[in-house]
Amino acid sequence: MPLLELKNITAGYGKNIILRDFNLQVERGQFVSLLGSSGCGKTTTLRLIAGFSEPNAGSIIFDGRDITHVPLHKRNFGFVFQSYALFPHMTVFDNVAFGLKMRKVSKEETKRRVMEMLALVDLNGFEKRYPREMSGGQRQRVALARAMVIRPDLMLFDEPLSNLDAKLRVKMRVEIRRIQQELGFTAIYVTHDQEECFAISDQVAIMNQGVIEQMDSPAHIFNGPKTEFIAHFVGFENFFDLTRQNGSLTTASGAVMAVASDRPGERFKACIRPEDVQIHPAEADVPNALPGEVLVTTFLGRNIQYNVRTPVGEFAVKAEQGNVYSIGSGVTLSLIANKIILIDSKE
Ligand SMILES: Nc1ncnc2c1ncn2[C@@H]1O[C@H](COP(=O)(O)OP(=O)(O)OP(=O)(O)O)[C@@H](O)[C@H]1O
Ligand SMILES: [Mg+2]
Repeated sequence: MPLLELKNITAGYGKNIILRDFNLQVERGQFVSLLGSSGCGKTTTLRLIAGFSEPNAGSIIFDGRDITHVPLHKRNFGFVFQSYALFPHMTVFDNVAFGLKMRKVSKEETKRRVMEMLALVDLNGFEKRYPREMSGGQRQRVALARAMVIRPDLMLFDEPLSNLDAKLRVKMRVEIRRIQQELGFTAIYVTHDQEECFAISDQVAIMNQGVIEQMDSPAHIFNGPKTEFIAHFVGFENFFDLTRQNGSLTTASGAVMAVASDRPGERFKACIRPEDVQIHPAEADVPNALPGEVLVTTFLGRNIQYNVRTPVGEFAVKAEQGNVYSIGSGVTLSLIANKIILIDSKE
């Protein structure tokens, strides 16, 4: 039985419906990320789970109990929101102790648990400081400690690292994952940073226009996107149609493609990442070949990106430096057979 289940949820703001028949299941102890573009409904989903708002229809089940209408303070959930600031007039100790005070935990136990939690986020000795006397990353860790000290049944994170610089983000996300595994809580983490989400999650749910299009382990999503939208999200830039003719998968221009992941079906949308397409001179005899003409070259430091016109559309190709093809050159592209992913064609 999942720990948390959102069943057929409809929710929004007034007449503006954001989530329609939305479903989500989260297993106990898992770290689940919600990923999606801005405005797709991630924060809306998290607010429903936390209890800041109620759905128009559907139910939220937690640990076998219907909590759809249970008020926020009766759900023992912790949250770290991007805008969920620390109390500026309170010391670090009092900030972290806040939730325990609300729950009338004794003074001795409060002290013990606050100090334990500060040690966990590596802030020993900071308890007398005020938020303004600390760096952004340190404040972020106080916010984490404050949320986790109540031993929540579920932790909700809404872009908790978006205020930090790139280096600190990486450090903090590893830290969050470590603490989650150490304390064993279940977490839902909202982000629109693909890399961040893949780095720390057991499961990733990718949202598009108010529904989850695919929920799976990071590796499965990365290697086997199920829709064009998901494929775009995880770095596939080249899309083309393949149809089965006399048993072979064939492009619209009649080129036969060997595809390692071939499966039953007549029509597919195929996709491949720029780094999985090789570029060769025009006369090269290579497998899975497409003739082309270089339209744009872009230097990316270690690599060169070529945009190449082919009979089945424009392709982006990322090549190691070496042979440089100038604009207007004729080339032959070779698509690596085990890097081509077949997506069911919608037509
Ligand atoms: N309080 C509100 N009143 C009316 N509309 C809202 C409100 N909050 C959000 N919306 C709308 O609901 C939609 C979903 O918003 P939501 O905040 O859930 O997006 P999000 O996925 O968290 O995006 P982001 O990545 O930008 O944070 C958006 O179109 C937004 O404009
Ligand atoms: Mg949001």
